Parts: sequence; C-alpha cells; structure tokens
Amino acid sequence: MDKLVIEGGIPLEGEVTISGAKNATLPLMAAALLAAGKHTFENAPKLRDIRTMQKLLTHMGAACEHNDLLHIDTSDIHTLEAPYDLVKTMRASVLVLGPMLARYQRARVSLPGGCAIGARPIDLHLMGLERMGVEVELQHGYVLARANRLKGASISFDQVTVTGTENLMMAAALADGITTLKNAAREPEVVALAEYLRLMGARIEGDGTDVITIEGVEELSPGRIRVIPDRIEAGTYLVAAGITGGRLKLNACQPTHLEAVIRKLEAAGLSITPEQDSLLVSSNGPLQSVDVKTSPYPAFPTDMQAQFMSLMTLGNGVSVIIEQIFENRFMHVLELKRLGADIELDGRTAVVRGVKKLSGAPVMATDLRASACLVLGALAAEGITEVNRIYHLDRGYEAMEKKLAAVGARIRREKE
Ligand code: UD1
Repeated sequence: MDKLVIEGGIPLEGEVTISGAKNATLPLMAAALLAAGKHTFENAPKLRDIRTMQKLLTHMGAACEHNDLLHIDTSDIHTLEAPYDLVKTMRASVLVLGPMLARYQRARVSLPGGCAIGARPIDLHLMGLERMGVEVELQHGYVLARANRLKGASISFDQVTVTGTENLMMAAALADGITTLKNAAREPEVVALAEYLRLMGARIEGDGTDVITIEGVEELSPGRIRVIPDRIEAGTYLVAAGITGGRLKLNACQPTHLEAVIRKLEAAGLSITPEQDSLLVSSNGPLQSVDVKTSPYPAFPTDMQAQFMSLMTLGNGVSVIIEQIFENRFMHVLELKRLGADIELDGRTAVVRGVKKLSGAPVMATDLRASACLVLGALAAEGITEVNRIYHLDRGYEAMEKKLAAVGARIRREKE
C-alpha cells in the first residue's frame, strides 16, 4: 500500500489543470448499457473508480478501452449482474441497475452494505423502480429485479439522492410513457447525464431543477460527449492555495459549478477571480473562521466538507461545521487532531477552534474526501506528515501528488 510523505509550509504557486469529473463519468459509463454500440467519452479521468466501473461493465460483456478517450462498446452484453466484489469497493456500481432493467428487463445487483461515511441505503432507487413496475426481491445480499417493459410513473423522493435520480432517469429513458421525478437532485453531474441521454435520443426536460420529466422512447443510440470538469477536485485545489497562503490558477474548470464553495472561501479571506473556464485564487491574510452547512446542490457540497474543515483548523476564531447529508462523515476529525487541530464533535456538528499552526504527524486516510483533507492539512503543517492508506485518494484524485509537486509542494509517494 502506498503512502504520501509531505513536508508542509510551502506556499503553492503556479497552474493546475483540473481533470474530468469522476462523478459525471460513472453515470455516463452506466448509460452506455442503454444502447448497443460504441460510446465515446472525452476528458474521462484515469482513476481507480473509473477502472472499477470498467471492470463491472467488462464482467457484463462490454469492451472498454481507456487511452486519450474512453470507449465503451456494449454490443455484446451477456451477464446482467453487478457482483458483490465490485459493488463493495464502489457504491456507484448500483448505477447499472436502472439501465439494465430499462434495456433487458432484469438485473441482479449486490446490495452495497455500509461504508465508512454512513449507511447509504438504496431504498429510494428501489422505491422508484417499483413504481415503474419492477418486481424487487432481496436474496443472499443481492437485489433481484425483473419487469416487463418499464412503465412511466410519478416518483417523489423524500430525500435528495444524486445516484438515485440518475438511476431512475436512465430507467425512464426507455420506459413506456412519461416519468416525473420530484425532489430530484440538481447537481451538475445529473445535468451532464441528461445531456448525454438527450444526445442518445432521450426526451428529458427539467434537469437542473427539482422536477425532471422523461418521456420514454423505444430505442437510443450511442454517441460521444466530453466529461464536465471535476468541481470537487477544483474546490480542493482552491483550499490548497488558501491553506498554504499561495497563489494558483486552476485551468479547465467550471466556476459556475462552484458558487457556494467560492462564497465560503471568500468569506474565509481567500481572493478568488473566476474567468470563463479558470479560477485565480490567492491568500495572504489571516484565515477567517466561517460556519458551513452541507446540503444538496446548489448549496455547499458534502464532498467539500472535510477539505473546508482543514482550512478552518487555521482560522482566527471558531467555525461550526454541520454535516447534513451523511450521518457519519467526520472520520477525518481524529486524524486532523493528530496534526494539532482543535475540533469538538457533537453528532452532525463539528466545532473547529482555529490554532496558530498544525504540526506534521503520521495520519491515516479513511475515505476519499477525508484523504484529501489530510493532504491539505499536511501541506500547511510544520514538518513532515505521512498520509497512510492513500488508495482512497487514488479512487478520486487524478495524479494528485504530481499536480501538487508541479506547484511547489514537497510531496512524494512511498510504499508503506
Ligand atoms: C453521490 C456522490 C457522492 C456525494 C453524494 C452527495 C456519486 C457517484 N457520488 O453519492 O460523491 O457525496 O452524492 O452529494 O455521484 N439515501 C437514502 N436512500 C437512498 C439513497 C440515498 O437514504 O436510496 C441517503 C443517503 O444515505 C445520504 C443521502 O440520501 O444520506 C444522499 O445520498 P445520495 O445523494 O444518494 O449519495 P450518492 O448518490 O450515493
């Protein structure tokens, strides 16, 4: 297993190119199951989660190739199953459920089980599919689902779910009649999926709002699309500039997807200038402590909570951080304390009292965004920090140590 060794205290300066979004690529890959033939994605990031989805699609009979472009050929799908081994390493594997049912009327998908950041059930995905006429049975840890052609339905989510919205949008694209998704997720990744589905011939309206209407069609055809920039990766590098008192230009990003994050970082004292597809960020004053609450898009994303907490450990006062999406997404708190942070936890609330400095120590990454937050803490800490178990980081950040080293960070990867 690899670890990162980071010597902190160097202000980062230079340019970073933001990669394509992992969370936009995964649903596009699943959507390839909706139409036989060769699908092509530009700007897909080279990440472990993307390889896991490739493995899953290959297991089902697809041919995948990822060089400059990501090609997925779904001409020969023979196995309608997402096995436990793959689903347990990546929950987003459940995204194949909707497309499988829409196109092949049956599916066998392992239940994801718990993960480090909370229970994360898929009951809302299943509720929606049942409304569309799918019979669902749970057997030996698997969801067995079958249907005749899916029927359009009116589906109201009692909680906003991103992959739930994506799964049902894909299922509805080939259903008989009209489906309405209410209290749907408005994330840019949902809009990006809707755009690809429309390109394939689907009839979808309202994506980007909380009511999405899908009129099912008989058939879809494969296409080619560019993956949107990763807003969470961009947000992470904004914090990297802020926490080191540096100055960065982030290229190939989409500033409009980051409005809530930018507002909070500006309140914390960073200076941020959005341009059409880049962001200039710098920080030289003291960091202000500000409060944050995570909520579905367009509010502050849960996927930036841990990184923002790193920044707040060096604030000039007290910051209250409330996690409203996942019940157990504070695994990074104990590790940040090892770097000298002063944080008190009470349920879904973390009270962060700013300290003058962090000091390097060995720490352990527990999940994807927690890993990023430890790297950020390490970049600011005095002395050397070892971030262990960084395989989580490799799931979601393309070439992070290379990108950081290129802007001056002293960082290297070593075998544990
Ligand atoms: C997606 C993102 C993840 C992000 C999360 C929230 C992908 C691949 N992953 O995950 O990075 O952190 O959105 O922005 O896009 N819930 C239920 N029942 C369900 C589904 C969800 O109770 O059937 C709950 C979850 O436990 C959680 C909340 O709803 O508390 C939101 O989860 P959801 O939006 O579904 O997260 P994911 O789509 O898995």
